[in-house]
Amino acid sequence: MRSAMAAADVGDDVLDRDPTMRELEQRTASLLGASDALWTPTGTMANLIALMSHLRRGDAFLAPIGAHVLDSELGSAAWLAGGMPRPLEHDAGPGKVSPAAVRRAAGSAGPYFALRTTLLCLENTHNASGGTVTAPEEHASVAAAARAAKLRVHLDGARIWNASVALGVPPGALTVGADTVQVCLSKGLGAPLGSVVAGSAEFVEEARRLRKMLGGGVRQGGVVAAAGLVALDNIDRLADDHTRARKLADGLEERGWQVSKPATNIVLISTADIDGELRRFEAVGVRAAPMSGQIRLVTHAQISDADITTALDRIGPAEPGRGEPARNGAGPSGRSLRRGGSRAPARPSGR
Ligand SMILES: Cc1ncc(COP(=O)(O)O)c(C=O)c1O
Repeated sequence: MRSAMAAADVGDDVLDRDPTMRELEQRTASLLGASDALWTPTGTMANLIALMSHLRRGDAFLAPIGAHVLDSELGSAAWLAGGMPRPLEHDAGPGKVSPAAVRRAAGSAGPYFALRTTLLCLENTHNASGGTVTAPEEHASVAAAARAAKLRVHLDGARIWNASVALGVPPGALTVGADTVQVCLSKGLGAPLGSVVAGSAEFVEEARRLRKMLGGGVRQGGVVAAAGLVALDNIDRLADDHTRARKLADGLEERGWQVSKPATNIVLISTADIDGELRRFEAVGVRAAPMSGQIRLVTHAQISDADITTALDRIGPAEPGRGEPARNGAGPSGRSLRRGGSRAPARPSGR
């Protein structure tokens, strides 16, 4: 990837486009079944550009509870795109909403002073639910319900590659009915930076103006686009991350931890003492993060089979009682958000 970056053919993307960036944008658009696409430095900016283009100030938008656009983008959907967020329950499974729920939430026009709902944001895979996957037919029927209710549809496909590999379908099968899609070249695909937002040619023309307004226009972008092109060559490798996530989850379960069955590359651990366990993991060199009232572990290109064995040895067995989810303060997954008391770190086995 670094050699490709060093050897990249470049131009000035702000003035008259950079050839390597154009190659990346066109290849990504074609993978997603879109007319055109635009590179952005981050997924957050790509989502924001899509929302700014779809929403008028004060419009409501729907998204499944825990969606990245709702909880993890500093409120930019409201602050900068002017949207009123309306989170939807996961009534069709973790990370998923049903067509009926979308129809209900979209409502009908109402009196002139009624809140106007104009957009549905979907997320595949759904990060906060543990990388859960929406299948093509489920996605298509929710998108169709939104369109029938005159909503636009944006798909946050930061990890659409993982969904595509897990399901054995091309990424374009997961974007049907979406007006815009954002995908990340970083994360599992391993580029140091870069996302792409795709849609119609008219959308991309407007998106280019919005990206410049947000400070995301770059000059010799080919250097980073070259990394993105190598990232796209790595999509099939994600299957290894999924296998390792399952191995990690199985090993944790054998050691008495309460874990989710990973659909892709994310493993969620339920424990009553999130902060305490995170400190203990950190102390033994296992980096994890809190998410949705659970602990989130992720497999990626830099995690080998040997790393999974090492992580399991260092984490060691769960102490009895630690895995019991508390009944109060439930997050989106129904797990506890309660902070546990201090506890002496358990000695990791195998160190
Ligand atoms: C679902 C989802 N969307 C968007 C993003 C934002 O990507 P970035 O970190 O490149 O801004 C993330 C990042 O984790 C994500 O998980």
